[in-house]
Amino acid sequence: MSKRAEPIRAVKGTRDLLPPETWSWQKVEDGARGVFQAYNFREVRTPILERTELFARSVGADTDIVTKEMYTFEDRDHESLTLRPEATASVVRAYIEHGLFNERGIHKLYYMGPMFRRERPQKGRYRQFYQIGAEVLGSDHPAIDAEVLEMLLLFLERVGLRSFTLLLNSVGCAKCRPEYVKVLRRALGSVKSTMCVDCQRRAESNPLRVLDCKVEADQPIIAKLPSILDHLGPECRQHFDRVLAELKQRGIPYEITPRLVRGLDYYTRTTFEITSSALGAQNALLGGGRYDGLSEMLGGPPAPGIGFSIGEDRLVLAVEEAARSKEAPTQELKDAALAAYVAWLGDPALGPASELARRLRRQGLSVEIGYEPTKLKKSLGAASKLGARFAIIIGDGELASGRYQVKDMSTGGQEEVESARIASYLKGRIQESGARIQHYETLIPGP
Ligand code: HAM
Repeated sequence: MSKRAEPIRAVKGTRDLLPPETWSWQKVEDGARGVFQAYNFREVRTPILERTELFARSVGADTDIVTKEMYTFEDRDHESLTLRPEATASVVRAYIEHGLFNERGIHKLYYMGPMFRRERPQKGRYRQFYQIGAEVLGSDHPAIDAEVLEMLLLFLERVGLRSFTLLLNSVGCAKCRPEYVKVLRRALGSVKSTMCVDCQRRAESNPLRVLDCKVEADQPIIAKLPSILDHLGPECRQHFDRVLAELKQRGIPYEITPRLVRGLDYYTRTTFEITSSALGAQNALLGGGRYDGLSEMLGGPPAPGIGFSIGEDRLVLAVEEAARSKEAPTQELKDAALAAYVAWLGDPALGPASELARRLRRQGLSVEIGYEPTKLKKSLGAASKLGARFAIIIGDGELASGRYQVKDMSTGGQEEVESARIASYLKGRIQESGARIQHYETLIPGP
């Protein structure tokens, strides 16, 4: 007997998403598209592969992402390329490259897709993970900041999340931040020798990054460092106050968190994160903020911007957790059932059976049909295993009369329906029962 080849496994930190879990992913993505479109955001798709310099310049050469986590390699023509660790830099690059700034007004763009960071994998943290994000380019108005947060909260509500916290901060701008960095560097002078090696280095090169440190022993030291909110310039202070007022007007609760400087260098003014207790240690569901100088850093014209990225892996975990704890109806997360299974008996019935399946599918109904000849009992067994709402039985008698048997799989009741009327009959019965059936019309978000 020949030896079986060694199976090949997925790369560490990456994973396969299988049905029925993919159903939750689709629900979340459909919800995002619906809500984002309501706010007039349009989709952008940028490449997964970018020049390394894009991230070094925008995310920052001293950040954990750039120094430790990027998948960077030299291409065959010796160019350094990187699998994108985030998408904001790519969106701004595309905005500049395609001259979108030449069109008047603001640009509202959203995206979803895989990102890559070589972190230590654990629950909610992967090396290939997915983000759903949105960016607004072309305005620094504080009402935009509040509107972006309003949209985010509507989306979280729509996917069934209730318990989360919005953390908010302002990190100042290129004018006022250098002064704060000086104060911070001074304060770090006397304590840095007691901190982790990364903080010792950052205290010199980029003191703001000390505030992102995750090392437990450093936390009490970091808690005593001066707050950026005490060092905002008058314009940044005014901007932040107006953001807070806009949030209050919209009834959006928040917690001001002066240490929230976020792990990327491009931020200015508003920064935020939403955390969820359902997530455990990796509790940041999403993060975002303003990046008013990023376009210039990437060689573009001034184009203030703000956006966020939701960790989709974490969002799905939190949504499923919320459903389990009855925050949201559990049924919502189950894979939707099949509308019908077509069971045919005897060779002459196969043609009409596949013709019926084709007609129903063209009407948007989800239908399965087996092509191996089987006994009725086995076909009904398959229908039930697939969770079909109805089985349609076609044998010699049905072929002769043109009226097929439609069996309700939940009650066992059976009715004869004229072949041409089956699609409308099924739709009517499904609507009556309020059952959730896979149907492509239902994928278009409702009101
Ligand atoms: P970020 O905070 O680096 O921000 O990432 C946003 C979210 O992505 C995190 O809150 C988390 O939910 C998820 N995430 C990050 N790393 C991982 C991982 N290894 N595994 C699973 N999930 C992860 C950004 O990426 C910015 N581009 C956000 C932004 C958009 N700022 C302005 N516009």
